[in-house]
Amino acid sequence: MTDNAIRVYKAWDLPTRLFHWINFLCVITLSFLGLVMLFKGEIGISGNEARIGLKVLHVSVGYIFAINLVVRIFWGFIGGRYSRWTTLFPGKNFKQELSSYKASSTSGKPQTFIGHNPKGRLSVLLMLLLLTVQMTTGLIRAGTDIYYPPFGNVAANHVAAEGVLPSQIMPYDSTGTDPDKMAELKAFKKPFGMIHIYTAYVLWLLILVHLFAVIRVDAGGEGTLVSSMFSGNKHLPREPEDQ
Ligand code: HEM
Repeated sequence: MTDNAIRVYKAWDLPTRLFHWINFLCVITLSFLGLVMLFKGEIGISGNEARIGLKVLHVSVGYIFAINLVVRIFWGFIGGRYSRWTTLFPGKNFKQELSSYKASSTSGKPQTFIGHNPKGRLSVLLMLLLLTVQMTTGLIRAGTDIYYPPFGNVAANHVAAEGVLPSQIMPYDSTGTDPDKMAELKAFKKPFGMIHIYTAYVLWLLILVHLFAVIRVDAGGEGTLVSSMFSGNKHLPREPEDQ
């Protein structure tokens, strides 16, 4: 293949592209609702009804986000070559791949990849890890804060006073609860709330880096990254390293 011959390669299968865009929409919506929750005082939202309403909305979108993420995790085992964990996780030659990619980037003729370049692999893995942390801590908070599935029943069962049915326990209402058990639940859920919020901060930062890197790589002649997440195809100007 000559230097100027652009070839088209099938990079992302349909489930991976669907995951990406559903995840994109969910993260924007969850981040927006999360920020409204964080700054509710400043924007004049008060009262338990509004607080619970916001959480229910956030958790409802969170379920779509969680299902989409779990499907992607499974797809990593059975999906197309460039979506698989085996392609994403660094192998035994990774150090060498990374340094030769870095050297090629500074030479003005960067290596090209059908899947992710070595730096991209690390950043995608980190993002998927943080998304999984958000999903897990979010589901635990949904259960322990507003008694929503999948852990809500266990939490309500734990705090219900003797003779009270878990279904009678309401969020932000101590009626029918055992104060000691309630204090235990409060102590248990606190670190998950902290992790949820600090992970959101790191995730927002990483998303900015991801956007910047994708645009830089696309404009730098390593192939059509942005359009490939719509069409599934990458147009590469040179022989890819991962064919
Ligand atoms: C990328 C995904 C997510 C982001 C960026 C995100 C962000 C946030 C933020 C910023 C808050 C505000 C924390 C506060 O007010 O102290 C929050 C709270 C919350 N999130 Fe998420 N979240 C995500 C996913 C989820 C998921 C998947 C669920 C569950 C299905 C969930 C459940 C909750 C709950 C229950 C709260 C309220 C907890 C509390 O008051 O501390 N989140 N989220």
